[in-house]
Amino acid sequence: MLSDLPDYDDHEMVAFLRDKESGLRAVIAIHDTRLGPAHGGTRAWHYGSEAAAATDALRLSRGMTLKNAVAGLPLGGGKSVILLEAGGRATPAMLRAFGRAVDTLGGRYIPAEDVGIGPDDMAEIAAETRHALGVPGPEGAAGADPSPYTALGIFHAMGAALGFATGDASVRGRHVAVQGLGGVGRNLCEYLAEAGARLTVADIDAGRVAAAARSLDAETADPDAIHRVAADVFAPCALGGVLNARTIPELGAGIVCGGANNQLADARAGEALLGRGILYAPDFVVNAGGVIWTSAPITGATPDEVTARIGEIPARLTDILERARRAGVPPEAAAETHALALIEARSGGA
Ligand code: NAI
Repeated sequence: MLSDLPDYDDHEMVAFLRDKESGLRAVIAIHDTRLGPAHGGTRAWHYGSEAAAATDALRLSRGMTLKNAVAGLPLGGGKSVILLEAGGRATPAMLRAFGRAVDTLGGRYIPAEDVGIGPDDMAEIAAETRHALGVPGPEGAAGADPSPYTALGIFHAMGAALGFATGDASVRGRHVAVQGLGGVGRNLCEYLAEAGARLTVADIDAGRVAAAARSLDAETADPDAIHRVAADVFAPCALGGVLNARTIPELGAGIVCGGANNQLADARAGEALLGRGILYAPDFVVNAGGVIWTSAPITGATPDEVTARIGEIPARLTDILERARRAGVPPEAAAETHALALIEARSGGA
């Protein structure tokens, strides 16, 4: 039973989709729509089992509820995953079938890009439903990609985290270890390099590592060792669960601030980081730049307003870090408490 999964939490709806003709297998998870329609990306990935895929969707959708609330958006939380075969990709036929399924929800869930789904894939989904964001317009695929906006928010937030931990918010001369050089990681590296930071990078895709080493003068590390690099900041920008019982004792940086969703393997990981004196910038607070951008057609934000709202992320992070310090709890716990209080207050629950 889906509802037996530990991460089922209090999801409003979880649907398992199967389309024989295209081979689509997907999960749509709607966690909470009290603040508005559930908005969160679609991930296309090869999972070890259907339960693993459902668990990923459930954890990610709950994270979107918290992210959208903290970012002040009129949106609830949802997420979806498309289950790929090993080495497979989401075909246009699968994406069309997925779009048709999204359409039946009548706007209660609105997808956008995530790992394995780019703007061109969103165009396929949007051919079947008007309830999709991050869809290429006349400006083309580049203009629809949320990654540069996500990276911008993380870049700003990193300054706030450095300022909070050291009293100096400048990234110039700081050493940042970046895990994952996809849309988010690569754009983050560019902002950091431009601002004079020193970079060490890792990715399981050797071509991406070589390109970053060449064009950004970055040092490189093994993907299994990047978290051990003695840097000022570790920036996870690949997949979730990277902060766990194995990696936390080995972390080489005093600050963790990156874009990956669900970086903490579990609540114990937040306690373990606090115990080691490592400052953790909660992912759902710092990586909201993308959703601030994709949701602009709903919020009506102009490009300048989007940039301004992303510029509010560092102050929001500092506020959360101060709340956590006052309460003596991990920042993730303080952020979650804050997000849930915002939802209660805005939805008329308190
Ligand atoms: P992407 O698919 O463009 O890039 C992910 C990169 O991570 C790829 O280059 C991949 O080879 C690499 N990777 C995978 N496993 C790795 C490992 N074990 N070690 C090192 N590298 C590894 O994905 P994108 O869009 O850059 O997203 C990255 C993370 O940020 C994801 O967790 C995503 O959910 C999150 N995120 C993305 C947003 C966006 O705007 N794209 C918004 C908010 C969060």
